[in-house]
Amino acid sequence: MTTGRYKTVVYPGTFDPITNGHIDLVHRACHLFDFVVVAVAASPRKKPLFSLDERVALCREVLQDVPNVAVCGFDCLLATLVEEKGACGVVRGIRAVSDFEYEFQLANMNRALAPAMESLFLTPSEHFSFISSSLVKEIALLNGDVQKFVPKEVEAALRQKYLDLGAR
Ligand code: COA
Repeated sequence: MTTGRYKTVVYPGTFDPITNGHIDLVHRACHLFDFVVVAVAASPRKKPLFSLDERVALCREVLQDVPNVAVCGFDCLLATLVEEKGACGVVRGIRAVSDFEYEFQLANMNRALAPAMESLFLTPSEHFSFISSSLVKEIALLNGDVQKFVPKEVEAALRQKYLDLGAR
């Protein structure tokens, strides 16, 4: 049944870089919502390896075949972005109990800032529950094989980035 209203949700993160775990979550969100905005946070405090433009470009490249997804970068409050996009809220991934405390705090803070904004939590496939962008970066830096964890475009970007930095 259609209600005549399009439901948009924002999937925010630092995506430094996007992994197969994030992509799994995007696909799950795409089945639940009419439109998913993958919002790449500037996150200067995390000192990302890839620039915001690079992270946005990588997300666009690996998600180009998903019809109801758009990718944008942002450096404002998440609550402001959600309102700007006309979204009902955000979707976040919970990989393990250890993610819960931080996500709960984030959700409550966002609700305090924007009471109408909902936070929804999805669990990625168990194959991806142990992936994190930091681990992928560490493995790539040490010449390990990351092809099981990220798309080939991301693998190539990691290789190039560490070559450019003279780290490999
Ligand atoms: N698969 C694989 N990895 C996943 C994952 C999944 N499904 N879900 C989360 N992760 C990993 C990420 O790789 C990342 O790992 P890392 O820390 O090793 O890099 C970690 O979990 C969490 O990162 P991410 O999902 O990118 O989120 P974040 O915590 O960096 O981003 C924001 C949090 C962007 C949502 C938050 O900082 C924000 O809202 N910023 C905007 C400013 C703002 O509004 N601040 C006030 C908030 S109340």
